[in-house]
Amino acid sequence: MLQQAISLQITSTQRDFKKSLFDLSFMSNFGYTLAMDIQFKRMTIQDLPYWEKWAKQSFVSEIWFPEESQTADYVIHKIMGNGYDHPFIILCDRNPIGFIQCSDLYAYRTLCLSPKGVFTQEKPGTFGMDLFIGEEHFLNKGYGSRIVNLFAQKIFSEFNAKVIYIDPFLDNKRAIRCDEEAGFEFTHIAHHGENGCYIMQCRPHGAEDN
Ligand SMILES: CC(C)(COP(=O)(O)OP(=O)(O)OC[C@H]1O[C@@H](n2cnc3c(N)ncnc32)[C@H](O)[C@@H]1OP(=O)(O)O)[C@@H](O)C(=O)NCCC(=O)NCCS
Repeated sequence: MLQQAISLQITSTQRDFKKSLFDLSFMSNFGYTLAMDIQFKRMTIQDLPYWEKWAKQSFVSEIWFPEESQTADYVIHKIMGNGYDHPFIILCDRNPIGFIQCSDLYAYRTLCLSPKGVFTQEKPGTFGMDLFIGEEHFLNKGYGSRIVNLFAQKIFSEFNAKVIYIDPFLDNKRAIRCDEEAGFEFTHIAHHGENGCYIMQCRPHGAEDN
């Protein structure tokens, strides 16, 4: 009973905490420390079993691969290096919990013979990002918004991005809310085939639109 009460208290405090700041610090409650050490590790071939397991989960596949399921080939060429996609594993307290990637959209435009999707005309310094949390018990607890915010900071500092776009489907309200909380702002709606995308952007602190 006491354990249950403590666990409920941790969950509710975690959500309040998420709303108040984006830092990487710890939080204690009744002597417990939240698991909030988020890191990003370059994805390697050794990580493929995680990706394959996560990609089969319905809460991932219905959003990422709505038309047909994907094999590991989808991500292998990214791991090997295609010149524009950079795949990472999300670690929470050193445990793999999901997949995240950024894409240099100018490199994509210039290297791909027939670029597809909603970002085909981008200028240098323009990046996109995408993610999924693959471990179900990490969903809806505030990890997503923290992860998106931290990864955006990484793209700005390590890839020298000037602007980052994210493009959840219009009906993916959870992702849209998560990205808003992470600091992304709506720009426009775009269509890719049947799908409407809610395009959001994030710029480095203090940077102006251009
Ligand atoms: C999208 C994803 C990364 C978000 O991470 P998360 O940790 O689950 O989300 P968070 O807890 O940080 O934030 C979710 C927010 O959406 C809200 N939310 C959840 N379901 C919602 C719904 N159906 N409608 C509106 N808001 C919703 C939550 O209440 C929360 O907002 P709040 O903190 O203001 O209450 C994660 O759910 C995921 O990986 N989903 C599967 C794949 C996917 O959708 N990837 C994104 C592709 S663009």
